[in-house]
Amino acid sequence: MRILIIGCGSIGSVLAKAVHDMPEVDRIYVTDQSKDFAVHLISSLHKAQYIDNVNGKLAKVLGEIDLAVEAASQDAARKFIPFALENGVDVMVMSVGVFADEAFRTRCYDLAKKHRSRIYVPSGAACGTDGLHAASAAAISEVHLITKKGPKGLKGAPGLAMRGIDVDALTEATVVFEGNARDAANQFPKNLNVAATISLLGVGFEQTRVTIVCDPSTERNAHTLIVRGEFGELRCETNNVPSPMTPSTSYLAALSAVSAIKRILGNVWIGV
Ligand SMILES: NC(=O)c1ccc[n+]([C@@H]2O[C@H](COP(=O)([O-])OP(=O)(O)OC[C@H]3O[C@@H](n4cnc5c(N)ncnc54)[C@H](O)[C@@H]3O)[C@@H](O)[C@H]2O)c1
Repeated sequence: MRILIIGCGSIGSVLAKAVHDMPEVDRIYVTDQSKDFAVHLISSLHKAQYIDNVNGKLAKVLGEIDLAVEAASQDAARKFIPFALENGVDVMVMSVGVFADEAFRTRCYDLAKKHRSRIYVPSGAACGTDGLHAASAAAISEVHLITKKGPKGLKGAPGLAMRGIDVDALTEATVVFEGNARDAANQFPKNLNVAATISLLGVGFEQTRVTIVCDPSTERNAHTLIVRGEFGELRCETNNVPSPMTPSTSYLAALSAVSAIKRILGNVWIGV
């Protein structure tokens, strides 16, 4: 398998090293708007090659690629996902929040159908997506995601400025957002990926409830997923170690991309 990794940050760098150790992967292309960082990352990965996106170079290698992994940003996702899909290349999407835009999502789903390419969205930073997936085969009455992060994990979100909240001034756990996943998408774009994945799997962006708590006493990125429906009720708690490089990102998100690739490469799928 030949893989293109777009974005060599906290997720892309874990992924590049992990796929390099997979015998089924014979070539890795990486690209990043910050070339020096990407080149440093792959200096010890002999299967990997840096490719920049000037003079249509990326388009030229696309014909050789089986899977493109977007691990960069919503801007990159908007640019690269349709480009890969219309070239018949399967895409793994980490900046899932981009799919809160219904017109864009429909365009990508249609392109995948037309060009027989696949879109993979790993479970990301939260557990319980397996149960939600199964539960969605019958009626679901409630999906509620409660995300709790420390100030570093939420800093800079437009939703904080909207409410005049200075996370560094908080002395106790404080609810900084309460609403649906659609509004969370606009107000907390970097923290929305889990909410987006859950919305896509379950009851959609309008019906999924999201609560975001900033807790100055925590070093973890925690997610509690509560689902009620015909199947009964599930409550899943995840207490994630944040990436030292990008505190809003949990290490588990990178691991979910690694294990999704292992699953794609394998013939036996457990817990689908
Ligand atoms: N699905 C999930 O559960 C989940 C969890 C955490 C993060 N994410 C998302 O995954 C993405 C990557 O996260 P990360 O923590 O690795 O981010 P990061 O900031 O650590 O790294 C992103 C890298 O992508 C590069 N980049 C950004 N825009 C680019 C572009 N247009 N073209 C080329 N390179 C570009 C940056 O230079 C950087 O090196 C983010 O959008 C993040 O919000 C998803």
